[in-house]
Amino acid sequence: MNILVAGGAGYIGSHICVELLEAGHDVVVIDDFSNSRPEVLDYIKEITGKAVKFYEFNILDEAKTKQVFAENKLDAIIHCAAFKAVGESVVKPIEYYMNNLTTTLIMAKMMRDYEVKSIVFSSSATVYGDPETVPLTEDCKLGETTNPYGTSKAMMERILMDVAHAYPQMSVSLLRYFNPIGAHESGLIGENPKGIPNNLMPYIMKVAIGELPELGVFGNDYDTPDGTGVRDYIHVVDLAKGHVLAIEKYATPGVHICNLGTGKGYSVLDIVNAFELVNNIKIPYVIKDRRPGDIATCYADPTRAKEELDWVAEKTLDDMCRDTWNFAKKHLKDD
Ligand code: WQD
Repeated sequence: MNILVAGGAGYIGSHICVELLEAGHDVVVIDDFSNSRPEVLDYIKEITGKAVKFYEFNILDEAKTKQVFAENKLDAIIHCAAFKAVGESVVKPIEYYMNNLTTTLIMAKMMRDYEVKSIVFSSSATVYGDPETVPLTEDCKLGETTNPYGTSKAMMERILMDVAHAYPQMSVSLLRYFNPIGAHESGLIGENPKGIPNNLMPYIMKVAIGELPELGVFGNDYDTPDGTGVRDYIHVVDLAKGHVLAIEKYATPGVHICNLGTGKGYSVLDIVNAFELVNNIKIPYVIKDRRPGDIATCYADPTRAKEELDWVAEKTLDDMCRDTWNFAKKHLKDD
């Protein structure tokens, strides 16, 4: 199949491109490098021996986006092009809603106009808000999202469900990611956010390479085993493989909603300890106040992914920590 990966030079998108190419698909990428780097495209080719067909611009440029659909007969879209920093979204709501919602509307419009049958959307467990119970199944009610990033994800899901209702020939897959971390085993691609990282693992990575002095642990008074926040961390390669299966198995028209998580919850201190043990590195940390909008515990019930996609997360927390450090050693020390 010929698949468009919107945001395909990004952290998640680049790992999806690798798995698609290795599964024998052809890949077209649109990316504006707002949260990625041009060399990622070279690394994708170095890993797979194949090149993506690349277009550099922001999907908000509807004329250029239209040109891509006119030039390429596309079988499916994987939409990963969105701003994704929770903290940043609180101070930049206009940019987040403008970018995330408008790009999704443009993708939906192109699907209709060029008769692309299927879209796989990069959604997030954040749409569940602060869950009343865990583990989370796809039937859990959507919660009060606590920041514009999470709200934009919930809105994008709603937009795509309404589009699927209006155009019953379309397949719309909403993949709800839990916490993607780790890097490809080659160490060539991984998470390398610009500026001070918002998320836990990239922050730990920058402490490990000596770029940041210590980790701030946002609260140790939650109702969790060690008081620090518990999340379902999933290796980004497992996540990417889930997309290949979704493209192949969710081809039937209609709306498909699926959690992509391991079903296991780890605390902040579990992650710190695992990273230290696996990589024989000390990660100094201090306990700070809770981060506004954070919840205590969130992890998936991954049953539906197993039943419908025959997908199970295979990589362990040690793999996630080892692969993160392997990527950091190859890249971040040069920056
Ligand atoms: C994880 C835990 C923090 C940083 C969000 C989005 C989700 C996804 C991942 C994009 C929490 C704690 C963090 C730090 C800390 N987005 N923490 N010190 O908030 O669970 O999820 O990012 O893919 O959609 O909702 O991820 O990594 O920011 O936080 O103590 O410097 O680590 O309090 O308990 P989060 P996170």
